[in-house]
Amino acid sequence: MKATRLYLLLHVLSTTAVLVNTFDPVTTTVVIGIGASLGRTIYNYLHESCDSKWIAFNATALEVDLSRKLFGQHIASRIILKAVNGFMKNANPKKPLVLSLHGWTGTGKNFVSKLIAESIYKEGMDSNFVHVFTSTLHFPHPSQYLTYKSQLQQWIKGNVTNCERSMFIFDEMDKMHPGLIDSIKPYLDYYDKLDGVSYRKAIFLFLSNAGGDSIAQTALDFWKEGRNREEIELKDLEMLLSLSVFNNKESGFFRTSLIDKNLVDFFVPLLPLEYRHVVQCVMAEMKDRGVEPDQYLADKLAKDLVYFPKSERVFSVKGCKTIESKLDYYT
Ligand SMILES: Nc1ncnc2c1ncn2[C@@H]1O[C@H](COP(=O)(O)OP(=O)(O)OP(=O)(O)O)[C@@H](O)[C@H]1O
Ligand SMILES: [Mg+2]
Repeated sequence: MKATRLYLLLHVLSTTAVLVNTFDPVTTTVVIGIGASLGRTIYNYLHESCDSKWIAFNATALEVDLSRKLFGQHIASRIILKAVNGFMKNANPKKPLVLSLHGWTGTGKNFVSKLIAESIYKEGMDSNFVHVFTSTLHFPHPSQYLTYKSQLQQWIKGNVTNCERSMFIFDEMDKMHPGLIDSIKPYLDYYDKLDGVSYRKAIFLFLSNAGGDSIAQTALDFWKEGRNREEIELKDLEMLLSLSVFNNKESGFFRTSLIDKNLVDFFVPLLPLEYRHVVQCVMAEMKDRGVEPDQYLADKLAKDLVYFPKSERVFSVKGCKTIESKLDYYT
């Protein structure tokens, strides 16, 4: 009995030795190493990660998209292209890129944010590195702003630690609690590092309707004087923007010192859209749906929208918003 056990044990030991001999330590390490790196490559191929395979800025794509897909926004197009280009090509930016987009409803603030995201992240708005906050949705109760504040700070820190090329979009910035805005200020500033984390490659986009009225007023003045819309320049709007937006006691955004501290790199005005732009939006939407663009239908739909001022009917009250659902109704 004992002899049999001993024989079995010896047999097992010798078999193991043969196996180990076949895969000597070096080979084993190499095989495991290759396996792991292959696994990593496959994983990286399928799952978005913070590297150049998934995050690579395409300046041409942004330029083409801005000129072909964004209608009636010559000032915004120009500023955005220059700002994003300059920032993404700088290997060592001193601070994160901070853009504040202003304009009437439906003029393309979210739309242009999407174009920016698509030019940087392969996954566009679906990227795990693009984060959208909507004031009324994510921070609905002003009384709870202290809770939101610590959550938001941890969220920003955690995400930038995970990937320095992160993008944060704050929608309805004008409805955000001033205290909450104050809490993100340190991340926008010229710090080398904050608690060991560098925020200098991150991008912050602030979207709001603040200043939309005065931008519309300027556009209307140009129209009344019979001047071309494309003649409107940033300097025609800057002063008004600063007066109506920055001194607006109602707007949380501007009761903070974001402005005085020059943390916002560019203020980007979006002009109200005219009838012809609405037609362009309808035609684009048809193309997107894979149907033949129909000029007659586009005109019909655009004519049924509401325009302001009431007497002249120059600008679309809802911009290009609601066109998607309207098109369902018309077709
Ligand atoms: N200037 C534009 N050029 C092309 N399409 C546009 C433009 N503006 C708006 N659109 C279309 O209308 C839709 C709604 O626009 P978007 O959500 O960007 O408006 P917004 O400026 O964010 O408005 P709000 O202030 O109400 O949030 C977009 O998805 C896009 O399809
Ligand atoms: Mg919007």
